[in-house]
Formats: sequence, C-alpha cells, structure tokens
Amino acid sequence: RSSKAAAVVALLLAASGLTACGISTSPVTEHEFVNELAVPPLAESTVESGVRTFQLTAQKGITDFPGIGESETWGFNGAFLGPTLRATRGEKVAVQVDNELGRPTSVHWHGMHLPAAMDGGPHQMVEPGATWTPSWTVDQPASTLWYHPHPHGETEEHVYRGLAGMFILDDDASAAASLPNEYGVDDLPLIVQDKKFDDGELEYDRNGSEPGILGDTVLVNGTVGPYADVSTERVRLRLLNGSTARTYTFAFEDRPMTLIATDGGFLDAPLSQERVRLAPGERAEVVVTFEPGETVRLRSLKTDLGGIVVPQTAGGNDEFDVIEFRAAEKLTPSPEPSWPAAKDAAADEVHESEASVTREFVLNTREINGEEMDMSRIDEVAYVGDTEVWNVKSTQPIPHSFHIHDVQFRILSIDGKAPPPELAGPKDTIYLQPNVDYRLLMRFEDYADPAIPYMYHCHMLMHEDEGMMGQFVVIERGQEGEVGMPEMEGH
Ligand code: C2O
Ligand code: CU
Repeated sequence: RSSKAAAVVALLLAASGLTACGISTSPVTEHEFVNELAVPPLAESTVESGVRTFQLTAQKGITDFPGIGESETWGFNGAFLGPTLRATRGEKVAVQVDNELGRPTSVHWHGMHLPAAMDGGPHQMVEPGATWTPSWTVDQPASTLWYHPHPHGETEEHVYRGLAGMFILDDDASAAASLPNEYGVDDLPLIVQDKKFDDGELEYDRNGSEPGILGDTVLVNGTVGPYADVSTERVRLRLLNGSTARTYTFAFEDRPMTLIATDGGFLDAPLSQERVRLAPGERAEVVVTFEPGETVRLRSLKTDLGGIVVPQTAGGNDEFDVIEFRAAEKLTPSPEPSWPAAKDAAADEVHESEASVTREFVLNTREINGEEMDMSRIDEVAYVGDTEVWNVKSTQPIPHSFHIHDVQFRILSIDGKAPPPELAGPKDTIYLQPNVDYRLLMRFEDYADPAIPYMYHCHMLMHEDEGMMGQFVVIERGQEGEVGMPEMEGH
C-alpha cells in the first residue's frame, strides 16, 4: 500500500471528522490476479459398519503467500484452512479430530443439525494431543456448511490463523437437479477472508477497530490475488464469508448471478441477483454464466446499510476486486439448469401458525439482553418439537451477524415486512442491520440434552469472544430439573 494513498485516506477521514471516533480503517490492497486459485481437496473418508469417518488434524504450518512472504499459519491436515468434507443426507458420519496445535481448540460444524454433545462448541474442547470423535446422522437438506474452532474467547484467533473448511451436504434433490456439480471444475468453493500482514507474517492483532480485524489483503481459499480458469459455460460458486469481521457485497460489473441457495440449502426458486451480501459466517451458492475467452472479476462493493452512515460498517466501506475468472476460448456447454422443485423442501418446512414460543434478543456492545456470555449460565430453554419465533435486533449503530446453532431458520419479517426473496430461504446466520427488527422462525426437532447447551452469538468473532453469545438447551418436558452443566462444576 502506498503511503500516498494512506495519506489521502487520512486526509479524507480528517475532513469528515471520522478520526475523532478512533476508528481505524484498513483499505484493501488490490493484488495482481496472478495466482491460480487453490481448491481445498475433498476430504478422504472410510466407510465401516455404515459410518463414514473423516479425519482432521488441527496443526501449525508455514504458508507461502506469494508477493507477501512466508508465515506461520494454522490449518487442518495442512498449513492453512482444511479439506472439504462431503456427505449425503441420511448418512452416518464421524470425524476424528486430532489436536496437534499445542493448545486447546474445538471444531464446530456450522449449520449442522446434530446433538449438542457433537456440536463442537466451547463445551467440547479438545486438549492438545487429544482426539475427539463426534458422530451423527446427517438429516437436513443439501447445503454448503462449514467447520471452524469455537474455543470461548479465542474463536477469532483460531479462525483468523486459518482453521476453517467447508462441509458440503448432498441429497436426492441436489442429485436430481441439473446444476454444475463437478467439484473444483465447475463447482468451486470460495472461502473469502481478509487478513493483515506485517513484514510477510500473518498479523493477529485486535487493533481496536469496532467490528474486529479488518485486513488489507483478501484471500480466497488462502490464495492472494487469485484467478480461476473457467472451462464450462456455467460455474457454480459456493461463497463462504469466512472472515472474522468484514461484510462483503459480491457483484460482477456486467452480469447478474443466479442465486440458488443460502446458508441451509436451496431457495424455492432461483433468483437473478446483481449483488449478494454476506456477513461473517453466511454462505450463498450462485451460478454464473461466462462467454468464451473473457476475463471478468468478482468484486466486493460498498455494503448498503439502508442509509445509515456508519464509518466502520463491518469493513463494508471498501470496494475491491476479489477474484478473476479466465474463460477458455472454447467452453464446454453446460446442461440447461434445472432446480430442485420447491415441493422437495416441503417436508422440512416450518409454519408460523405452529409457533408457541416467542423470545426477544437485543444485541448491544458485547452483550445479548444485557448480559455477557457466561459458560455456566443457561440463557434459554427450548422444548423438543416446539416451533419458536426469535425477535432479534441490534440497538447499536453498527451491524452484527447473528448465528444460531443446531437449526436452520426462516426469516418471517424484517421491520414488519416480508423478507426479500434472497433472504427467504433457509438460514443459520443473518446480517443484522442496526435498529431493524428481524423475526426468525425455527423448530427444535430432536436431540434433547438438558446438560449440554448450543450457542447463539454474533459471528463477528471478536464480538463473540468478548461476550456477545448466549446458551440454550433443548429438552423434553419433564427434564427442567436436569438443566445445567455438570462438566462445569469446579470451574
Ligand atoms: Cu460459525 Cu457458533 O459458529
Ligand atoms: Cu457483532
């Protein structure tokens, strides 16, 4: 970054009076798009007695970031990020997690419906040298989920240093749909993360910026200045905002994207979108059409905060290119796309008329409902089989990214109005615009456990670490007296 540009930014800030708030801005450096996009390998697995078992080792390593330097990073089964896990609805899966990091960590399956004991939150820590092998049956629609550590107070650091990967689920509907689905060829995982570097070293530094760390370098799957060769007319992009604080508004300059899926699976119908906004933790699947021989870039635009002028909009102030696509002179024709029929999703649908419980969640500073996270306090108790409405709101002039474990929810309304179609699909994480009411609908299907909680929290990971998190248990009626966390005794 040139010091001249920095000086101009400083001048602009001074002129607008923003420095008075002590905000540190981090303009994104645009690197040349000369490095071929790394694609995380599909994780190998073994199937024995009907259980598909994966293996992940959390470890440290050295990553060469071209043009920046070699740096210590953390990864699963490698130096940075982790392999893509993939399983089919109905399968029994297990993951052997080995911790070679030299410090405690955990692995949370973000977006997965599973028993709380398998969730990988802050109550399922894996000590250094230890192994943890959660197992569960995949029972939810095809979707793009992900995994990452969740150690209380340190989630930001573990994810930031490189511990994250995708978890793709398939089902009958996704198998029947005619969509680009050759992994790494016309079906590309794109894990987008911003990082800071200091003299070539990945720099983990809570610099006091309100959203958390806003990096000056945007990596896709760990690649600096990435390009991807395109060999087919259509490509499906599985976008994951794996950043700790920054919100992206993805767009191509000259063409829409066809949005087919959000966090928890397919939309009822594909949707042509000029922009796709993703807050930390959110995912989207889009299909993009390319012309032979062209070179185009996916950009991130300013995030529209609905007219609210906030200097530190979760890093949404910058505009920059993210990745370049280079289409071959001759492209393999892609089959006419066909989408999973809406009725396929009906079995998973939850109806507002069935809701029997309403809860309120107000996010402010590092608290939810006026309280910071306490590992030994259960904040909410839900019953198996109940459908609930959660009213969620940030009352601070900065956005948050609200995530609920275990369930996929539907957005009933945003400030009283029906959500736009791009937010009407299955979600587990949602961008909270300041002072806007979000009503979320969900059902707690099964997996009662009065002793082990699930989490809900802000997915801007510094906020989460600093207390913007709460705990809920799912129980059967009659288990009220057993609510609590025996494993916390003595802490
Ligand atoms: Cu992606 Cu509780 O986290
Ligand atoms: Cu937040």
